[in-house]
Amino acid sequence: DLKGFAFDLDGVIADTARFHGQAWHQLADKVGTPWTKELADSLKGVSRMDSLELILKAGGHENDYSQEEKVALATEKNDNYVKLVETLTPADILPGMKDFLDELKANHYHIVLASASKNAPKVIKYLQIADYFEGIVDPAKLTHGKPDPEIYTEAAKTMNLPANQVAGLEDAQAGVESINRAGELSIGFGANLQDADVKFNSTGDVSLAAIKQQMSEN
Ligand code: G6P
Ligand code: MG
Repeated sequence: DLKGFAFDLDGVIADTARFHGQAWHQLADKVGTPWTKELADSLKGVSRMDSLELILKAGGHENDYSQEEKVALATEKNDNYVKLVETLTPADILPGMKDFLDELKANHYHIVLASASKNAPKVIKYLQIADYFEGIVDPAKLTHGKPDPEIYTEAAKTMNLPANQVAGLEDAQAGVESINRAGELSIGFGANLQDADVKFNSTGDVSLAAIKQQMSEN
């Protein structure tokens, strides 16, 4: 039986995937990498430095910058991202997510955050939902980013639960793969997440009943 939920943040709880996209698009323009939907999608859930490498590679620029210059580029992207984050309010919580957090809390489920973003504590503060989370996995302490299972395995440990009692919620392929490899139940939002155990078109469709319904059909 499920006892805990590990939430991705960007694209699941708030539409911040759009902000990351905007800031990376600016960076891609600067280094001369054409911005495509495929490139944008491939960055979702991926750590800051790994995202930068993907953008440089997509334009054939992977050898054009020193490590120091790469850090400066990533810092510039982050400064632009943080400016966008500072405009967030509780009105930016995606449809249904506040109700779902309330439902989980009312039913005494464990709730943790499993975001690859070092800005996650800041984002949930602006959204005013920090109190729902009993823990936040610190991506700075991880060796491997999504799609490696490490972050979701850590999330289960934070809740003191075996993997088979944990569900993870994701909007990106890298994240769904991470949950699946951790041996947890994957819940995916949006198109192109064929590998998710439970799928919803929109965050507004999620509820405990809707999850159990799909689990009984599988
Ligand atoms: C999440 C987002 C990615 C982002 C990563 C690192 O996984 O989906 O788009 O690159 O976090 O975020 P950060 O805020 O630490 O740069
Ligand atoms: Mg995400």
